[in-house]
Amino acid sequence: MLILAFESSCDETAAAVVSIDNGGRRILSNIVASQISVHALYGGVVPEIASRAHVEAISRITYEALDKAGVSLSDIELIGVTNTPGLIGALLVAVNFAKALAYANGIPLVAVNHIKGHVAANYFEYQELEPPFTALVASGGHTSIISVDSYTEYNTIGRTRDDAIGEAFDKVGRVMGLPYPGGKEMDRLASIGNPDYAKFPSGAIHDDTLDFSFSGLKTHIVNHLNTLTQKGGEIPKEDIAAAFTKTVCDSVITKLDAALKQTGHKKLVVAGGVSANSHLRAALQKYCKNHHIELFIPSLSLCGDNGAMIAAQAYYEFMEGKTDGTDLNAYATKRT
Ligand code: KG4
Ligand code: ZN
Repeated sequence: MLILAFESSCDETAAAVVSIDNGGRRILSNIVASQISVHALYGGVVPEIASRAHVEAISRITYEALDKAGVSLSDIELIGVTNTPGLIGALLVAVNFAKALAYANGIPLVAVNHIKGHVAANYFEYQELEPPFTALVASGGHTSIISVDSYTEYNTIGRTRDDAIGEAFDKVGRVMGLPYPGGKEMDRLASIGNPDYAKFPSGAIHDDTLDFSFSGLKTHIVNHLNTLTQKGGEIPKEDIAAAFTKTVCDSVITKLDAALKQTGHKKLVVAGGVSANSHLRAALQKYCKNHHIELFIPSLSLCGDNGAMIAAQAYYEFMEGKTDGTDLNAYATKRT
């Protein structure tokens, strides 16, 4: 089946064409128009600017995606689109575009949850991967541990109660004067810093839930940076990045260990922008090797927001009998 899918939940406008059937899952094109340079001027995503930039890009990247895949709209058998969660004005751009395209061309339409999409990115890299498994989704807006019971049944068993991991990376990066989004640069700095520079408060809540809290860690580091600045001393950016990253990795491993014991799964799937972090990838690889857990983690190009991941999830939703009509709406927070 040939699927065209769209993603516009935050600051990337994305369109992709994929082919999925019993013979395998293949990405034919995966076009991402990033708005990062626009939002970098403001140190974070400005929702109104994001919506406008999506409107400007979506038509162009759709034809780019079809061209690159070597197909035309009449070949497309299913259209997928992210409709939750995300910035409402941003989500509405792709939702309305997809609805119009589906209606005008008589193509079935399926709405996709962005978090499920992130997990589904792994189906392209690992043809043998199938549920059940435990998933960690860590991005700029979300941090969840999920028991994925089937391709469409997702049971969230742990979540952040405040900041997402990517948000914490970006905020610490901003206070250290790094360009937005700070996650990638924090990763680089952490590689040359001392992870034992200081002991920071864990993001793993000390209770029997699988929940995280990263705002305490973030505030602790911001206060630490302010104190250093007041004293007029040098800011050891590399060391702070390294110790912060170590704390984040340890927090994630603590809760994932508990989650895997709870679900009994021997497969761990990791997804979302933060799964690009080299230190987190190394920590997860080490943990999984020591605990005989099979680790599935996408290559860097599929960690961040993209259309192919939405197309994969759209396929499985459609196979379960789900379709949406012209009354499809977008929701800033997840409804189901
Ligand atoms: O999944 P994504 O593209 O968008 C959301 O759904 O939020 O994730 C973006 C987030 C940003 O916070 C960015 O700083 C973070 O992923 N990120 C990283 C790295 N690369 C991207 N965080 C830590 N280390 C990285 N290498
Ligand atoms: Zn995302």
